[in-house]
Amino acid sequence: MITHLLFSLSGFSSATDSISKVQPLHEGKTLVSNDGTFEMGFFSPGSSSNHYLGIWYKNISIRTVVWVANRSNPVKDNTTNLHINNQGILQIVNKNGTVFWSSNSTTEDNLLMNPVAQLLDSGNLVVRDENDQDSVNYVWQSFDYPCDTLLPGMKLGWDLKTGLQRRLTAWRNWDDPSPGNLSWGISLDGFPQGVFLKGSREYYRVGPWIGPRFSGTPELKTNQLFSYKFVSDKNEVYFEYILKNKLILLRLVMNETSGTRHGYMWSIGSHEWMDFSSHSPRDQDCDLYNHCGPNAICSVISGNETCKCLKGFKQKSSQDWSQGCSSLVDEKLRCNMDNKTRTNNGGLTFYKVGGMKYPDTRSSWVNESMNLSECRDKCMENCSCMAYASSDISEGGSGCLMWFGDLNDIKEFSDGGADIYIRTMIDGKEDHKKKAAVIVISGTIASALVMILVFCYIGKRIISSKVKKNNDYAHEDYLDLPIFDLATIVKATQDFSISNKLGKGGFGTVYKGTLVDGQDIAVKRLSHGSSSGQGLTEFMNEVLLIAKLQHRNLVKLLGCCIQEGEKMLVYEYMPNKSLDNFIFGRKDDTIILDWSHRFNIINGVARGLLYLHQDSRLRIIHRDLKASNVLLDIELNPKISDFGMAKSFGGNQIEGNTNRIVGTYGYMAPEYAIYGSFSIKSDVFSFGVLVLEIISGKKNRMIYREGISTNLIGQAWTLWKEKKVLELIDSCMEDSYDESEALRCIQIGLLCVQQHPEDRPSMSNVVMMLGSEVALPQPKEPSFLTETSILQVVSSANQQSIISANEISVTELEPR
Ligand SMILES: *[C@@H]1O[C@H](CO)[C@@H](O)[C@H](O)[C@H]1NC(C)=O
Ligand SMILES: *[C@@H]1O[C@H](CO)[C@@H](O)[C@H](O)[C@H]1NC(C)=O
Ligand SMILES: *[C@@H]1O[C@H](CO)[C@@H](O)[C@H](O)[C@H]1NC(C)=O
Ligand SMILES: *[C@@H]1O[C@H](CO)[C@@H](O)[C@H](O)[C@H]1NC(C)=O
Ligand SMILES: *[C@@H]1O[C@H](CO)[C@@H](O)[C@H](O)[C@H]1NC(C)=O
Ligand SMILES: *[C@@H]1O[C@H](CO)[C@@H](O)[C@H](O)[C@H]1NC(C)=O
Ligand SMILES: *[C@@H]1O[C@H](CO)[C@@H](O)[C@H](O)[C@H]1NC(C)=O
Ligand SMILES: *[C@@H]1O[C@H](CO)[C@@H](O)[C@H](O)[C@H]1NC(C)=O
Ligand SMILES: *[C@@H]1O[C@H](CO)[C@@H](O)[C@H](O)[C@H]1NC(C)=O
Ligand SMILES: *[C@@H]1O[C@H](CO)[C@@H](O)[C@H](O)[C@H]1NC(C)=O
Ligand SMILES: *[C@@H]1O[C@H](CO)[C@@H](O)[C@H](O)[C@H]1NC(C)=O
Ligand SMILES: *[C@@H]1O[C@H](CO)[C@@H](O)[C@H](O)[C@H]1NC(C)=O
Repeated sequence: MITHLLFSLSGFSSATDSISKVQPLHEGKTLVSNDGTFEMGFFSPGSSSNHYLGIWYKNISIRTVVWVANRSNPVKDNTTNLHINNQGILQIVNKNGTVFWSSNSTTEDNLLMNPVAQLLDSGNLVVRDENDQDSVNYVWQSFDYPCDTLLPGMKLGWDLKTGLQRRLTAWRNWDDPSPGNLSWGISLDGFPQGVFLKGSREYYRVGPWIGPRFSGTPELKTNQLFSYKFVSDKNEVYFEYILKNKLILLRLVMNETSGTRHGYMWSIGSHEWMDFSSHSPRDQDCDLYNHCGPNAICSVISGNETCKCLKGFKQKSSQDWSQGCSSLVDEKLRCNMDNKTRTNNGGLTFYKVGGMKYPDTRSSWVNESMNLSECRDKCMENCSCMAYASSDISEGGSGCLMWFGDLNDIKEFSDGGADIYIRTMIDGKEDHKKKAAVIVISGTIASALVMILVFCYIGKRIISSKVKKNNDYAHEDYLDLPIFDLATIVKATQDFSISNKLGKGGFGTVYKGTLVDGQDIAVKRLSHGSSSGQGLTEFMNEVLLIAKLQHRNLVKLLGCCIQEGEKMLVYEYMPNKSLDNFIFGRKDDTIILDWSHRFNIINGVARGLLYLHQDSRLRIIHRDLKASNVLLDIELNPKISDFGMAKSFGGNQIEGNTNRIVGTYGYMAPEYAIYGSFSIKSDVFSFGVLVLEIISGKKNRMIYREGISTNLIGQAWTLWKEKKVLELIDSCMEDSYDESEALRCIQIGLLCVQQHPEDRPSMSNVVMMLGSEVALPQPKEPSFLTETSILQVVSSANQQSIISANEISVTELEPR
């Protein structure tokens, strides 16, 4: 995972700050950037005795080379120097005068007065005139000749004026920096797209840039670490990312052995590179180029990859998906029908599939100023146009992208992805039916639609019931949800007395109260910031939506109170408080949960979460599932609390990405902690942590062992690999547990905390796996991001305090 380069730097001595005609760089000396981040010199990689001129990070303990001058032409001895001549050309020459490498400056005419080479703080080696300090028009720069690493500020792509292509190519192996087979570049055929090649064959398609991201990388989202852009104009086509905080070290690197691109971030705390975003292709075949062949969709939604033909196509060979699918109707006939369609408006039409990676855009055509309906018309006109879509999906979509001929390399995402309109030969009426099915399949779209419908519905009813003044709501049965009067709440909670405080969470403080009739309630008083900018109607709408969520594993909402600037939610009171009281830091008087209770709790939480994710009419992502948010009723049945809160009161999270991270670090999925990108799969991660906690009786936080820090997940994984996983089980249960159930739960827990969201099972799979004897998949390595390493990264990335302390819900503050 981490680049360990064994360095044999011969006779390390003084460093210089630039290379000039009078001051070449001798073997054994180094050139250091101003701020001391990067260093350049001769090195020998791995066990090789060859010498190369390279650039690496100066101040980190693991030697990490980011650039090599002449990868394929190593120097065999140590008598070489790096010279610069009048034209500003850098040359590696040995004492016999043999040139091993020469920079290719494009400067016949500009003889420089005093050419110097300097290593910039960005890691860019540049050649310029010494007197021309401010110029960014370098005579030559190493950033134009990338090796395997994309550093912040480097461009991946094309300078169209000079024809210069910058692409990343992996090292052949550990010992040999010469170009391997795996590379990543931008292809200019048709609509530009990112493509990984293995040798000269397409291996994985990152896809075209569709506004906010590449089509094949829905995980790329605005985040706290870096910003990124894609530029495509008549001069240049490139991708670039820029760090938001200069103190962070980040690099994207191609690796021949693992066959992927990794995103590494240096962890100051643990002194290692953390792989924060391994790129596709992962081991899933759907990422491999055209895995299902032409005109077929590759989908991993159900856990295993499946191929299916586009509607109106049939599989060419039942043995071999690589041949893909062919049209049921031959092209002549189709084009004929096409002509009729335009006149009678029936017959041929397009159908929408959502959640897609755009097909290969090599045979595509784009017009960025057309809208989708013009696009449709344009595609309709040409019968070899097989599909169209927005070329930019941001802000509801704009532009027109059309595909001609076979549609290659289409993948369906479980989360993210975009809509494509595909030409079909099936008549309009049936299409309508199918369309409904498609909407149900494409989850996010479906829930968005349902939400709109629900909002409209409730909105209408509110309007028709004539919104009255706040106070008039008191004690009124308003759409089945009682509205409590502030005075009642104040009385019940003894004016929010400290002694009635039950806890504090991400969105406010919870108090116990007793109504006049003796009924106990729990009152959540929302902190003022948490619903800022929300009008009363919106607040009511959202409360009503939460009120409609009813499941026996969710805490029941009894009502709400909105008065005098206060916004409060009233829940049923759970006398047994929360799960954390039972599993961590037990006091003598607490009951020890036996195995059957623990198993029951795991099952109940799974069902509650499944309901939120899938069975309720809204798709709710909890975002803060943890032991203290699982309450226990008299019979120790679990009830999830704070559901719907994140969605409704946490600000603008509908996009699945947020600047404000709500959650508790021990339970946060890596993609959420780092990118702020959340999905049902980040809840699955939290669930996995919770399962491990329930079984082990330990909290997932840092555990220090002989200077190595690891957490519960790391521990569980180690034990799993050593096949000693039963050692994880809470010792206070002694031997009273059911071994096969416990093993199953641990395995499910590990499946849920796998690093890549796509690998994690959905909650419906979890419930199925818990309730049956089916064989479980082997878990892959989980995310090892530890609490402190995340905090470090996030806090250093957030000196502008994008995350303020009170938005991290604080487990420590909760009562024991
Ligand atoms: C070059 O290598 C020789 C032997 O391999 C060694 O004696 C000498 O010190 C080296 N010179 C430098 C500048 O590293
Ligand atoms: C080098 O690293 C050490 C420890 O990580 C740090 O204290 C020091 O400031 C760093 N120096 C530079 C020049 O970055
Ligand atoms: C330099 O040249 C001499 C004679 O041409 C040769 O014997 C020697 O091996 C060369 N040395 C290097 C380092 O190329
Ligand atoms: C690098 O070395 C190769 C020989 O292996 C040579 O053909 C090529 O011109 C060199 N490249 C540069 C930029 O000097
Ligand atoms: C050097 O530049 C020239 C002209 O710009 C180009 O034709 C040639 O391919 C370049 N050589 C290398 C090794 O990049
Ligand atoms: C690159 O691919 C070729 C052909 O498949 C293979 O022979 C060669 O070993 C590969 N090179 C590396 C570095 O893997
Ligand atoms: C490349 O990946 C392999 C296997 O995943 C790993 O062992 C190796 O350290 C990686 N190489 C680099 C340079 O990161
Ligand atoms: C996935 O594929 C594996 C191996 O092909 C099989 O054992 C397993 O049952 C499949 N799982 C599902 C959910 O289809
Ligand atoms: C379809 O109609 C166009 C004119 O609108 C005509 O040029 C074309 O030949 C027709 N195609 C077929 C297959 O009839
Ligand atoms: C793109 O579409 C716009 C609007 O329909 C049109 O004016 C323009 O001519 C089109 N450009 C090309 C190259 O077709
Ligand atoms: C698309 O553009 C056309 C022509 O500019 C316009 O008439 C039409 O209303 C637009 N449609 C939409 C949905 O914006
Ligand atoms: C349809 O589009 C293809 C690809 O752009 C083009 O070659 C062909 O001429 C077009 N046909 C018509 C009738 O416009």
